Parts: sequence; C-alpha cells; structure tokens
Amino acid sequence: MAEHIKVLLSEKEVDERIQEIGRQISEDYEGKKVHLVCVLKGGSFFMCELAKRITVPVSLDFMSVSSYGSETKSSGVVRIVKDLDEPLKGKDVIVVEDIVDSGRTLSYLLDMLKDRGPESLRLCTLLDKPERRVVDVHVDYTGFQIPDEFVVGYGLDYDQKYRNLPYIGVVEFD
Ligand code: IMP
Ligand code: MG
Repeated sequence: MAEHIKVLLSEKEVDERIQEIGRQISEDYEGKKVHLVCVLKGGSFFMCELAKRITVPVSLDFMSVSSYGSETKSSGVVRIVKDLDEPLKGKDVIVVEDIVDSGRTLSYLLDMLKDRGPESLRLCTLLDKPERRVVDVHVDYTGFQIPDEFVVGYGLDYDQKYRNLPYIGVVEFD
C-alpha cells in the first residue's frame, strides 16, 4: 500500500513555536540552570532545537524506555532500556517528550524520576493529544495540541520511518 504524508504543522510553525517555548523556559528559569532529560528516540529532535533556544545554562541527559505488554494490556509499567548517566538530585529537571498520548508511559516515568530527588521536575512536550488521555499527566509546556491522528516527523516515527521530517505530518494511505 502506498503512503504519503499530509502536512499538519509546517517547519516554520514548529520552529516558531519551539522558539516561544525556549523563551518561556528561559524566563521561568532565570538565574538557574536547567537539566533537560530526553526520552529517546522521539524526543531527540525537539530537545536539540529547544536547547538551542534556551538562554540559561543547559545540561542534557538521555533515557530510553519501552512499555511492558501489548497496547491493549498496557499497565503503564515501563522498562528502562537505557538509564540516565547523571543523578537528578538537586537539579531543576525538564523531561522533554515528542508526544503525550494516553499518558501511561509518562505518568510512570515522572513518578520514577521524582523519587530520584530533583529540586523540581517539569514536563515539556512538542505535541499533545488530549482526546486520547487515559492517565492524568500534568504538562507544563506544550508545543501544540493536536487531534487524534497518527503523526510523524520531528522525531516521531511510523515503523521507524519519517523521524527526520522537519515538519509534523499525518500518514495517509492511497
Ligand atoms: P503514551 O502517552 O504512554 O500512550 O505513549 C506515548 C508514546 O507513544 C510516544 O512517546 C510515542 O512514542 C508513541 N506515539 C503516540 N502517538 C503517536 C503518533 O501519533 N505518532 C507516533 N508515535 C506516537
Ligand atoms: Mg516518546
């Protein structure tokens, strides 16, 4: 089946929004340092662009998780595939994600990171699909709220494809 990508958010729209979030974070963390935690692989493109727009000192770390069980049976329990290199104790941490969907993964992840004693812990996501939420998750910074459609680009994949698109698109099948 042939597929093509319909643009949902253009490169310009995404870049401008990331610039705004970067400015907001820089204001909110004035006089402090921020420690950005990227959830691989999806969050990586967004985190790099965001980090470039933040004017207070930034440090970065990466983690990779995978959910246990099938989508229908998901308990929200996640397995750490790659843990952070640095402790979070005493740091002002922002978790950077590509998308919040059901909220299961992030809710579990945030609870786990909270236990590591950060000074503060916030969540920043490029995309949010509020209609799909199953578990309540507080999002501090959101790029865009989008409808319940499967999107790709800017780190998001369909079958490991399209992560490198510089815009957000919807996969359509001909
Ligand atoms: P959840 O919030 O626990 O349901 O999991 C969110 C994860 O599912 C994200 O980090 C993505 O990896 C993946 N995901 C959810 N919606 C989409 C989408 O529209 N496109 C690509 N990946 C998605
Ligand atoms: Mg993700």
